[in-house]
Amino acid sequence: MAAPARTSPDIVHLAGLLKAGKLVAFPTETVYGLGADATNSDAVLSIYETKGRPRFNPLIVHCADLAMAETLVEFSPLAYRLARFWPGPLTLVLPKRFDAALSDLVTAGLDTVGVRVPAHPLALELIRAAGTPLAGPSANPSGKLSPTTAEQVRAGFHGSVPVLDGGPCTAGVESTIIAVDGTTATQLRAGALPRSDIEAAIGQTIAVAAENSAVAAPGMLASHYAPDARLRLDAAAPRPGEAYLAFGLEPPGAPGPLRNLSPAGDLREAARNLFAMLHELDAKAEVIAVAPIPHAGVGEAINDRLKRAAAPRP
Ligand code: TXA
Ligand code: MG
Repeated sequence: MAAPARTSPDIVHLAGLLKAGKLVAFPTETVYGLGADATNSDAVLSIYETKGRPRFNPLIVHCADLAMAETLVEFSPLAYRLARFWPGPLTLVLPKRFDAALSDLVTAGLDTVGVRVPAHPLALELIRAAGTPLAGPSANPSGKLSPTTAEQVRAGFHGSVPVLDGGPCTAGVESTIIAVDGTTATQLRAGALPRSDIEAAIGQTIAVAAENSAVAAPGMLASHYAPDARLRLDAAAPRPGEAYLAFGLEPPGAPGPLRNLSPAGDLREAARNLFAMLHELDAKAEVIAVAPIPHAGVGEAINDRLKRAAAPRP
């Protein structure tokens, strides 16, 4: 077996910042996260301040492996079956252990914790080097689009947060969030891992939490993931003056700025491109018309994000 690669000086440096209570943005397979030592309340508080995030909205805790997660939450047999998707784009909301070393700010007072093991090698290396689980919301100012490149993170926080650059995110939408209560599993947020894949793996159906059930997923505000431009959904073609976000075949002769989520009509490619293309078109037009997206597989998450991005602002 090859000797394990030495931790790069970059990661050692950034892990040192985390241990000192500073924020570090890190890559995951879904979107970039804004990381802090989840055991340190001052550090976690600066996540909320830096993002402008409401304090009632709890944070996902990123672990290096199942063993680290087991120190924080109680796993039922169903939870263990779901954890087979780790490392991967699945967050499990599980009962907090009585002896969990976690700042109360992470859970915003709930008695459950959202935990996941991300599937990006640099994220895992960073967590191991820091030696502590990392609280990590998406690395964007609250209410804005999630970043899928290091450059978007730097732009969003005006360079004030150091970023571990792991290249563009391969999944492109956030993790699927599943709450486990005894033998029932409920989806709180559609995400990169399709619900149908999870159902097939565990051999049981997953309920979907009611829209905006504040208790279930405090972060699922109707208007969220918002670009500055207005979105017009299910648009077969753009109107004059509109940008167009296509999927599959493009309408002939579209006059304005146009991007195609996936010319081949591949939903995974579309998910990967979603936020970056919305970012791009946002800079070019007041209204972005968006092609209809099939609801299958990761299409459920894409349509969820588009609906939120299109919702009227508070
Ligand atoms: O892919 C992802 O999940 C990314 C990467 C960085 O891991 N993270 C992410 O975090 O999307 P954030 O903070 O943008 O979204 C977390 C969501 C929020 O809607 C929050 O309310 C919900 O997870 N959440 C966290 N802990 C929870 C809990 N104990 N119970 C219910 N919902 C929870
Ligand atoms: Mg977010």
